[in-house]
Amino acid sequence: MADSYAVILAAGQGTRMKSKTHKVLHPLCGKPMIRHVTDSLKQTGVNRLFVVVGALADQVKQELGAEAEFIHQEQQLGTGHAVMQARSVLAGLAGYTLVCYGDTPLVSRDTYLGLLAAHEESGAAVTMLTALVPQPFGLGRIIRNDAGEILSIVEEKDATPEQKLIQEINPGLYCFTNSVLFSALDQLTNNNAQGEYYLTDIIGIIRRQGLKIASQTVSNADEILGVNDRVQLASLQTILQKQINERHMRNGVTLIDPQTTYIDVDVQIGSDTVVAPGVTLSGATAIGESCWIGSGTQINTSTVGDRVHIQSSIIMESAVADDVEIGPFAYLRPGCKISSGVKVGDFVELKNTSVGDGSKIPHLAYLGDADVGSNTNIGCGVVTANYDGFRKHRTVVGSGSFVGCNTNLIAPVTVGNEVYIATGSTITDDIPDGAFAIARQRQTIKENYVDKLKTRLREGDA
Ligand code: UD1
Ligand code: MG
Repeated sequence: MADSYAVILAAGQGTRMKSKTHKVLHPLCGKPMIRHVTDSLKQTGVNRLFVVVGALADQVKQELGAEAEFIHQEQQLGTGHAVMQARSVLAGLAGYTLVCYGDTPLVSRDTYLGLLAAHEESGAAVTMLTALVPQPFGLGRIIRNDAGEILSIVEEKDATPEQKLIQEINPGLYCFTNSVLFSALDQLTNNNAQGEYYLTDIIGIIRRQGLKIASQTVSNADEILGVNDRVQLASLQTILQKQINERHMRNGVTLIDPQTTYIDVDVQIGSDTVVAPGVTLSGATAIGESCWIGSGTQINTSTVGDRVHIQSSIIMESAVADDVEIGPFAYLRPGCKISSGVKVGDFVELKNTSVGDGSKIPHLAYLGDADVGSNTNIGCGVVTANYDGFRKHRTVVGSGSFVGCNTNLIAPVTVGNEVYIATGSTITDDIPDGAFAIARQRQTIKENYVDKLKTRLREGDA
């Protein structure tokens, strides 16, 4: 295969999105649109990847960083003008250049590869993708002669009523032989309905030069759908979500209701895991085998081991080991590390906290910036006071300890191993291993006092 390059056009801001964020940075199943394009292109083995940027260029550059080279198009004078900006970097290089649009994120690696292979095989000056769509409105139409050869592309705004009936359209994906591309670009004009330099005019120019134009018709028309507004963004999301969910189901994951299951593109799930309706799994999340992920659960950028049972809970940027039970309504904020066999029960909030093997926090507790050893029991209502209004402090609780209900642990504080803390204690001082701690007032009983109290209260002199 000859050297190959790719140019992604993304200089237009995408005004129809009505957004401060560049169109190509809007996420689709957890990944910015442009990354879908660059990731697929990178898998084709292209030698260099260029992105044409203009409006909101800094946003695009920040997202892609070193993964692409950037070409600036100061004014957006059309798709042809955008490709012209690549002249200084590409014109001198032999080989092929794939030109595509940053707002068509579903094109697969295989489609790009197929186009490159077809181009190499045919020896054409350009090989372009075409698609047959029932509603071609707004798209460039492919004009062929009686022999079926492509003559040109005509844009919707420049098309005659007869041409508008053509259902074969231009998805905007082309493979050019470099030497032809830049000489043909020289002949572009902006003499059309939109006053732009259309890249699409290059097809007619190449034809008039008597050079060969090859084409491939895309088999799955969904792949070439573009995003111009948020309605289209949502429909592409639905298409991609269906593909992702079907992939997991084929890999042995049960999705009880795939229609209401939202799984980002990079999420991994082990076999025999069951995902209930209304679950969102996002970011770089990896879930093990034979788990139960109950309704309403949201897991973001976390790892979950095998045989973990989660009910209606939120887990963010945390690691959960095997055989853990979580929820219902547990909230694991970033930085938690939950070891195997742990129970994090109902209405428990954990933040930046590690919990050792077999420990239990069954209900209504808040642990922030804490390290709990193994086989320790954290009673109902235990709270770490980890913030003094200025700084966060850590709480350490050893192994095999028992922290009674409604204990306040005033950080920084260290509780040893095999410690027993009496219910309702407010712990301000470290507790050594094996010690019992109680920190509350003794109970007072005043016998037969209630009648006296009520009389005093009634007479108002209490
Ligand atoms: C383009 C095609 C049309 C095709 C359609 C498929 C042209 C003239 N028309 O139309 O035949 O059916 O895509 O979606 O090419 N861009 C720049 N610089 C510019 C103008 C555009 O980088 O000066 C970028 C945009 O950011 C966008 C892409 O090129 O990512 C396509 O531009 P857009 O304005 O959406 O073209 P369409 O009108 O959709
Ligand atoms: Mg478009």
